[in-house]
Amino acid sequence: MSKVLIIGAGGVANVVAKKCAQNSADYSELLIATRTKSKADKIASSITNIPVSTAKVDADDPKEVAAIIRDFKPKLVMNIALPYQDLSIMDACLETGVDYLDTANYEPKDVAHFEYSWQWAYQERFKKTGIMALLGSGFDPGQTNVYTAWLKKHHFDRMDTLDIVDCNNGDHGKAFATNFNPEINIREITQNGRYWQDGKWVETSPLEIKADIAYPEVQVRGSYVLFHEELESLVKNFPELKRARFWMTFGDNYIKHLTVLQNVGMTRIDPVKFNGVDIIPLEFLKALLPAPDSLGEGYSGLTCIGCQVVGEKDGKPKTAFVYNVCDHAKCFAETGGQAISYTTAVPAMLGGALMLRGTWKKAGVVNMEEMDPDPFMNEIGKWGLPWKLLEGDAAKLV
Ligand SMILES: NC(=O)c1ccc[n+]([C@@H]2O[C@H](COP(=O)([O-])OP(=O)(O)OC[C@H]3O[C@@H](n4cnc5c(N)ncnc54)[C@H](OP(=O)(O)O)[C@@H]3O)[C@@H](O)[C@H]2O)c1
Repeated sequence: MSKVLIIGAGGVANVVAKKCAQNSADYSELLIATRTKSKADKIASSITNIPVSTAKVDADDPKEVAAIIRDFKPKLVMNIALPYQDLSIMDACLETGVDYLDTANYEPKDVAHFEYSWQWAYQERFKKTGIMALLGSGFDPGQTNVYTAWLKKHHFDRMDTLDIVDCNNGDHGKAFATNFNPEINIREITQNGRYWQDGKWVETSPLEIKADIAYPEVQVRGSYVLFHEELESLVKNFPELKRARFWMTFGDNYIKHLTVLQNVGMTRIDPVKFNGVDIIPLEFLKALLPAPDSLGEGYSGLTCIGCQVVGEKDGKPKTAFVYNVCDHAKCFAETGGQAISYTTAVPAMLGGALMLRGTWKKAGVVNMEEMDPDPFMNEIGKWGLPWKLLEGDAAKLV
């Protein structure tokens, strides 16, 4: 039973707090600290079975975060704010000697580029302090890393190719909206694509490679290769992989809106003078778009996210696909959040719980696939994200 500090109070943090409260055997008390305290208050008011307090914090400032940690004395800090805050919160954890968890890797605000190097550079300091940083404990990254580690542990002697496929077949009824923070989401999608092939990265134009993928229990959807952060740690931790790709579905309507926004300069992240004031077009666009935590009501349809591996077991070629299907409407009924928030939040809660119990324990900075996948795979279904395994021809999606 442990006290835990959650930083952030957006779409994902709302579901994280509610799932932590459902797991009161591991989470005995929460403090939700964020930039806009009223949002944390709203989440806290809906939880009654464990004590939840709230605070205002600017998580860009490690001193402010460290002060809150010293005062509340949590066993774990969950960074459910934005990737921009990863390093400042890790600094605060180092200063106070408390474990850290996040769901997305660091990216600097002024460059649309994300990679693990900045956080991996904390390895020695976390080891020396004897604390753990669990990186990317969401669905993708997160559950997809665990799926890959589990397939390797139980189903493959050698993995040759990995294809992570992410389908959102839901409909939120809005002309254009992003399912998680619009700024982070649009920066990710408008970058060049990248995949791993024979020991090096192959770069593509944004959304250059497309394939129709038949998602089990959902439908055939046009899917695009893009760079996703778990590829970086997975090819490092499973160097046998000859190829690793990440696919995501985008509807024609989404791409049409995004293309227009890009063409008119609304996705730019450099300052533009407007009426004598510097504005960042993408930050302004975020202010106009629906917030991710407002999308849940009326959102219908399913998501399907999973990992397909082709390789060898007992001297024979093998293909396997492990996946989860999640229903937007059911997520909303349970937590008030849509399925993207939900599929991110449940692995965050369980990753945190395994750390609190000491089941996942290692001083240093670790990605999810470095931990034993079995305790996670045994329990994740119980918390709302059950998985299924397909083998042979049924597992060949792409
Ligand atoms: N691994 C995965 O599968 C996965 C999937 C989706 C999302 N994610 C990640 O999940 C995280 C949360 O996404 P979301 O959809 O919940 O975003 P969101 O709705 O925009 O929420 C972000 C929250 O962070 C707060 N925040 C931002 N800057 C802050 C600062 N300097 N100090 C304190 N609080 C700050 C925001 O405060 P305000 O309310 O004041 O804006 C907001 O409450 C993001 O890092 C995203 O990349 C991971």
